[in-house]
Amino acid sequence: MRPELSPKVLVLLRYAAAVYLLGSVLFTLYSLFPQYKEPQPEPSIKPKRLTEPGQATFDVENILYSQQIMTWKSKSFLPSKVLPYYFKAVRNFNPESVTITTLITFDRYPIFSRLVTNYQGPISVSIHITDDENKDENLSKLHDMYNSNPYMKEFVDIHVIVDKFERQFNMWRNVARFFARSNYFMMLDVDFHICTDLQRHLSLDAKARGVLSSGAAVVLPAFEYVKQDDGIDSATFPKDKQALIQLVQKKKITTFHDFFPRGHNATDYEQWYKSDSVYKVTTYQHSYEPYAIMRKEGTPWCDERFIGYGANKAACLFEIYISGIDYWVLPQDFVIHQSHPYKEETRKQERKYNRRLYQNFQEETCFRYFKYFLETSQWNTSKADNLKEQCSQIRGFNQAVEQFTIS
Ligand SMILES: *[C@@H]1O[C@H](CO)[C@@H](O)[C@H](O)[C@H]1NC(C)=O
Ligand SMILES: *[C@@H]1O[C@H](CO)[C@@H](O)[C@H](O)[C@H]1NC(C)=O
Ligand SMILES: *[C@@H]1O[C@H](CO)[C@@H](O)[C@H](O)[C@H]1NC(C)=O
Repeated sequence: MRPELSPKVLVLLRYAAAVYLLGSVLFTLYSLFPQYKEPQPEPSIKPKRLTEPGQATFDVENILYSQQIMTWKSKSFLPSKVLPYYFKAVRNFNPESVTITTLITFDRYPIFSRLVTNYQGPISVSIHITDDENKDENLSKLHDMYNSNPYMKEFVDIHVIVDKFERQFNMWRNVARFFARSNYFMMLDVDFHICTDLQRHLSLDAKARGVLSSGAAVVLPAFEYVKQDDGIDSATFPKDKQALIQLVQKKKITTFHDFFPRGHNATDYEQWYKSDSVYKVTTYQHSYEPYAIMRKEGTPWCDERFIGYGANKAACLFEIYISGIDYWVLPQDFVIHQSHPYKEETRKQERKYNRRLYQNFQEETCFRYFKYFLETSQWNTSKADNLKEQCSQIRGFNQAVEQFTIS
């Protein structure tokens, strides 16, 4: 005998079934919803752990796709938050073009904007924002800057770094380079003006392109005005080598920081004035800080233990040289410094500290690459020439070499 259900119970059962159905539809929708809300993950950009000595200094992990934030593990401090392509240029760049990589702080926005207008080629820039209560205000200033110049949208990729650490210049440099979207990059300080049509000259100069594609670096000689006031407006700067040489002869322009010749004199300016083809730097020493174009792959990263002013760029260029990358000088192109006041107080202390660090770093780098060249059977190749020339001055180095190379 079938149990008789009263109409009341039937209504209740139907009601319960409806509630169940509605609930499961809602549940399904709820669990599907986030997939529509969040973008699909982008292909992984996690680099391999590289074993070459110059590339082991950095390490990227934990990319949180949904928020497009990635954690950059630096050798020095706690990890930093990096927002790659905070703004991304609409253009796709020719892989053979040169991406300018640089870093800027707030006081440099106007000068950066001029660089963008002047270069009209790919630029990858790191911007540091302090993780404090001014963060949003500072980000909105960045938006203003970006919107103020239409060339930004065409050419500039902006990567934002958010943390509490100031002046991690080498880490900022590495971020800008890591996300550069062409095969070559130029490490440039934002206050330097590229006076010539660099991109055109490079496209016409087969020898210079050969140097670059072989993995070597090419340098743009650096100059500055004798009177700081003459160097404020880049619109008045010479636009070719001939015009520059005339100003040098009139003593209006001089080589950059000529009070510290070791910073740039390996460029050999006397040869440059006469030269019409690319030539090799033969008097490299560890204070040399040229502005150079390099291949993105295979060039060592800048060591991120250098924080603050002094030696950070020199250390980077030292390791690059020791790794077997030669510097060559471009015959037509050059940069001129745009004057601005320096803040000397913070710089002095940091320079003192970094000078000590750099001494230790040189020793370490010499031994690190010596070991690497031995292990990879490159010790007897020309790749080790730069190391042999620079590192023999280090105490104990030659004895160590003898120990390990005499069979
Ligand atoms: C952010 O904004 C504040 C206040 O305007 C300013 O003092 C600070 O230097 C800015 N810079 C960074 C890197 O956050
Ligand atoms: C560069 O300057 C230093 C210091 O004045 C000097 O010792 C060195 O010989 C110079 N090098 C070249 C290539 O002129
Ligand atoms: C380098 O070459 C020299 C001379 O040809 C040889 O005696 C030495 O064993 C080689 N060293 C290495 C590490 O290959």
